[in-house]
Amino acid sequence: MKTIVLYRSKYGSTKSYAEWIGEALGCEVRDAKGVKADELLCYDKIVYGGGLYAEIIAGVTLITKNIEKLKDKKIAVFTTGITPLDCRAYYDGEVLEKNFKNGVPENVKIFNLMGKMILAELSLPHRLAIKALKKIMSGKENPTDMEKLLIELCDADGDFTDKAQIADLVEYIKG
Ligand SMILES: Cc1cc2nc3c(=O)[nH]c(=O)nc-3n(C[C@H](O)[C@H](O)[C@H](O)COP(=O)(O)O)c2cc1C
Repeated sequence: MKTIVLYRSKYGSTKSYAEWIGEALGCEVRDAKGVKADELLCYDKIVYGGGLYAEIIAGVTLITKNIEKLKDKKIAVFTTGITPLDCRAYYDGEVLEKNFKNGVPENVKIFNLMGKMILAELSLPHRLAIKALKKIMSGKENPTDMEKLLIELCDADGDFTDKAQIADLVEYIKG
């Protein structure tokens, strides 16, 4: 059985998880940038990881736009974000709706992992985007619980990555 771990990562947390997963599975790990779906046809199992940016899983269209070609593969997609993992309505609702418009295919299983956001490391466009989001959310008269959480998350400044979080995904791919 041939397995590959692919990732897209701007600030490094998804890359760290990809490397830990690759180490645990003893398989190849590759930055997904520039990878074509045809290059994946020789693998039986594919792990794809992407950082969450405005609910979009970075680069996941490599999987979602090629799902027909990849339909006989066992696929795990993991997200890396700063939204707490108990916000299931967020992960199972908004995130899936935005990235898997036709629903999650049967051969794909989703995992959510905690990433990092170090405000001082953010690019200027990202810093401005976070500032703008906080301003918009703070201006709401009756913010929903999710909007209140978003305001808090704009100030989340820390590294929440943890190797232990890969356990379920690794077990799934090995199984
Ligand atoms: C502009 C911007 C938008 C973000 N949007 C989300 C989001 O929608 N949901 C989330 O949970 N985290 C969000 N984050 C946090 C990132 O997903 C988090 O920093 C993640 O670890 C990034 O992955 P990377 O280190 O592999 O690039 C956002 C961060 C930035 C800078």
